[in-house]
Amino acid sequence: MHILGIDIGGTGIKGAVIDTATGELASERIRIESPRPATPESVGATILAVVEGHRWSGPIGVGFPAAIQHGVARTAANIDPAFIGLSVADHFSRQTGCPVYVANDADVAGLAEMRFGAARGVAGVVLVVTIGTGLGTALFGDGHLLPNTELGHILLDNGLEAESYASEAVRDAENLRWKDWGDRFNHYLLAMERLFWPDLIVLGGGASKKLDKFAARITTQTPVVPARFLNQAGMIGAALFAEEKLKATE
Ligand code: BGC
Repeated sequence: MHILGIDIGGTGIKGAVIDTATGELASERIRIESPRPATPESVGATILAVVEGHRWSGPIGVGFPAAIQHGVARTAANIDPAFIGLSVADHFSRQTGCPVYVANDADVAGLAEMRFGAARGVAGVVLVVTIGTGLGTALFGDGHLLPNTELGHILLDNGLEAESYASEAVRDAENLRWKDWGDRFNHYLLAMERLFWPDLIVLGGGASKKLDKFAARITTQTPVVPARFLNQAGMIGAALFAEEKLKATE
């Protein structure tokens, strides 16, 4: 099946047609800068531009940077608070005229890695962490997703929220060297390890392309690997999520 997968990030909104049987991109990727402020209207208009850019009229999957319960946004750490309580799925469906299925961005990136990527076939507990404007997490037990874990917002033992201490945005804002940011991120992974004892940790998002720059700072017992799809996992997983929903309603 071909589905348009869209990933809404803090800096860019990306979309590509995905072949859900293989996880491969079946079109060029279109990327548009994220609007500021990222309100329902401005994000909706940007999504429409991505859809029109692809001349797309079929089903769409969207990875959205908030806890999403049955299509409704429940949090808004890095987007406009006007999204809270809104059915993002209905809003984007109206905007585009296409059926739209929405889930948390890290959850869908995790789905892509679990199905076709770095965590394929891994039994037990897998934690996927996406490093970007926020810190996103997806938690799997024997391949099953526990959605909306929001573990980027835990308080670390230094009293700081993980996301405001170790995200990519913080590395940029504080101009941290990779090794210093790597120590912070390791602090976070050690906290995750103590709580969840994962069998594998997969890193996605922008910084996953730079793992060689901070891998030496990671001291977890758990193996830590980059996402196979790096920062394309969100688009691919969004399409896989939409396919799952479509099949469930057949
Ligand atoms: C949000 C999560 C999201 C993550 C990555 C966090 O600030 O609360 O829902 O998955 O950023 O975008």
